[in-house]
Amino acid sequence: MANSAWWASALSEAVNNEKPLAVVCNGEELVLFRDRQGQAFALEDRCPHRRVPLSLGCVVESGIQCGYHGWTFDGASGACTAIPNLHVDERVPARYAARAYPVAERNGFVHVWLGEGEPNESVPAATYQPEGREYTGAATVSILHEEYLAAMLDGPHCLISFDAVKMTDFFLGDPCLKDNHLVLDRGAVWSTRVLPPQFVVDYPLIVRTSVPVCGGDIRVDLLTEEETPLCTVFIASGANRRGTTSLCWRGFLHRSEGGVAPLRWRAARRAQRPPFRVNSHVDGEALAALLVAPSRDLDRLRDQSLIPVRAAV
Ligand code: FES
Repeated sequence: MANSAWWASALSEAVNNEKPLAVVCNGEELVLFRDRQGQAFALEDRCPHRRVPLSLGCVVESGIQCGYHGWTFDGASGACTAIPNLHVDERVPARYAARAYPVAERNGFVHVWLGEGEPNESVPAATYQPEGREYTGAATVSILHEEYLAAMLDGPHCLISFDAVKMTDFFLGDPCLKDNHLVLDRGAVWSTRVLPPQFVVDYPLIVRTSVPVCGGDIRVDLLTEEETPLCTVFIASGANRRGTTSLCWRGFLHRSEGGVAPLRWRAARRAQRPPFRVNSHVDGEALAALLVAPSRDLDRLRDQSLIPVRAAV
């Protein structure tokens, strides 16, 4: 399987022991659910009996029960454990099993190993440490996943915005590779500030985008020019059907006030309004206007296989 990696497929709180959750992650149709102890599981969202989505069934004590004929499947192994009306002396054939995927939870996301066999990469590191209130969401956007990742490097303003912040076209250095992510700093200003016409301006803010070489975990940070973090957003992305991309995200404001932040930023902070917005509609015209620049580095890393395939949040 291409892109073998841990993929963040859903917000942790979206997966429960009451209603199965259907997701499409990197093209794979999955059903996610928990047992009563809170353990999360991922199975292929297709019943081995008559190919009905298991997500249409219900979560039961021993796993997930298909909504059509009531077969039950174990979350950890995918094995069929019960078939209604089976005679007491009949056994469930071992071949009746749904594909089960390894699952790990980190950074508030349910990660699923999409690859052959057991995971050959470590579980993503726990790097998301919210300070106070979190802001979460999910959407499906009309753009190819690869294009979404490229646009996050070439023009993140098409995909995400921070309250009272204007991103500029100016890069603050070259893209660098860190923890299997391509990291790029971009100058930004408070939107209340009138930019002078000269070429050289100070950028009191930095928007740092961190895009995975493999996997779908994007990180976007808003920093002061001294690199004091103001806001952090993690976006889990993956290919959905028909050229669309699934997104879910979580982010938070850091404790730092932002120095000379404008009134709008500070008022929104006090009112606990979301400090950022992940676009659920992508402006095709704005996307078409983007030059392919930093994303070339992403392509180069993939084409030449300079680094091992793995993902980390
Ligand atoms: S289709 Fe699922 S039990 Fe028959």
